[in-house]
Amino acid sequence: MKLWSGRFEGETDKAADSFNSSLDFDKRLYRYDIMGSKAHCTMLGKCGIIPSAESDIIVKGLDGILADIESGMTVINDAEDIHSFVENELVARIGAVGKKLHTGRSRNDQVALDIRLFLRDAAKDIITLIKALIKRLVGISEKNLDTVMPAFTHLQKAQPTTLAHHFMAYAEMFARDISRFKSALERIDVMPLGSGACTSTAYPIDRKMVAELLGFPAITANSMDAVSDRDFVIDFISAASVAMMHLSRFSEEIIIWSSDEYKYVELSDKFSTGSSIMPQKKNPDMNELLRGKTGRVYGDLMSILTVMKGIPLAYDKDLQEDKECVFDAYDTLKACLNVFTALLGDMKINKQRLRECTDGGFTSATECADYLANKGVPFRDAHSIIGQLVVYCIKNGKTLQTLTLEEYNKFGDFLEDIFDVIKPENAIARRTAPGSPSAKAMKDEIDKMKKFLTKA
Ligand code: ARG
Repeated sequence: MKLWSGRFEGETDKAADSFNSSLDFDKRLYRYDIMGSKAHCTMLGKCGIIPSAESDIIVKGLDGILADIESGMTVINDAEDIHSFVENELVARIGAVGKKLHTGRSRNDQVALDIRLFLRDAAKDIITLIKALIKRLVGISEKNLDTVMPAFTHLQKAQPTTLAHHFMAYAEMFARDISRFKSALERIDVMPLGSGACTSTAYPIDRKMVAELLGFPAITANSMDAVSDRDFVIDFISAASVAMMHLSRFSEEIIIWSSDEYKYVELSDKFSTGSSIMPQKKNPDMNELLRGKTGRVYGDLMSILTVMKGIPLAYDKDLQEDKECVFDAYDTLKACLNVFTALLGDMKINKQRLRECTDGGFTSATECADYLANKGVPFRDAHSIIGQLVVYCIKNGKTLQTLTLEEYNKFGDFLEDIFDVIKPENAIARRTAPGSPSAKAMKDEIDKMKKFLTKA
């Protein structure tokens, strides 16, 4: 039974009916729809808009529907959307009194409420998952404060760093993601019910009571805005897109690092796949999927942005298109965070290989230049001298570590201590400013991150 059939004499076209219906995807909002309806109905009773005895009957009826959906006794089908389904089911169960539930309400403010309730839980859920990921990164970093590896720029070896420094860089990105979701949550957590179709209602409703019953700290300020605002959906999907971008960057590194050329890490069998034709293959499919799924979430963001750009005030049916974007972005990010955190915990780090790769590739060249600069050679000249030294090494099959002191002295004023200075461990230990890779600076960063996690 359609909620709006009174005005119509003819039947809706079958194809139009199915085109118009959102039940297939909005049925997952049933819990929130019922929660919102219970709060609305309680308020109607308390404000004397409907008799409180009837309000109690409706609330009980809604509780019954919820319990039966959860147990599988009641199957959600045969309705235009989840709001119609719940109301039809209510009337079927408790009779005519159920028809009073929609007093002073529209599906326009109802659906705005449902999606906010959904996103409130979703944002909290995502924050919890990101926290678990950061904790894992902190755990791995604490065990790898001295694990030397090359830092890269332009994917070319640059300077020595540690695995802790590299992993904590990602922890910082994910910490910012938490801030973004928290900020989105501030705008999600506002109660729109009472806005009606567009100009609220003349019934003596108490919006603050509904907000309190549902645990919202605030109510929306303008009913026209409230029924057509989906900025908070954009905030959520935008935060999800940035988080996916971070996961994708990290995945890209893991894909490169697990290649035969790098061998920096080895993914466990649990998180790798094989080839149907090449028996030797162990592929990083999880990370490739993570990287690929980033495109989906960006697509969700682009969809909702585009949907919103042509919406005249107030509610328009285009807004129904918000839900699949939100659900897809949430489901995708959630799955990605879960698999990524698990995969990291099982990933083997090849410390020896990382150490060997740090010595090659002239990662200590900056140290050599600084060495001369510390002796008074202007840095620009020191840079040029070490550049020539590197060319000499390349031509003679040497590294900065295998050069003799005599060879060094052909280029500048070096003493025996240069061999200590260029040790990656020492280059790292000298970097003590906040944000740098020395164990001391890293411990400070990790402590700050742990404090952030307890507050987040
Ligand atoms: N299924 C609709 C949506 O998701 C619910 C609101 C319908 N409102 C209306 N006036 N037709 O937006």
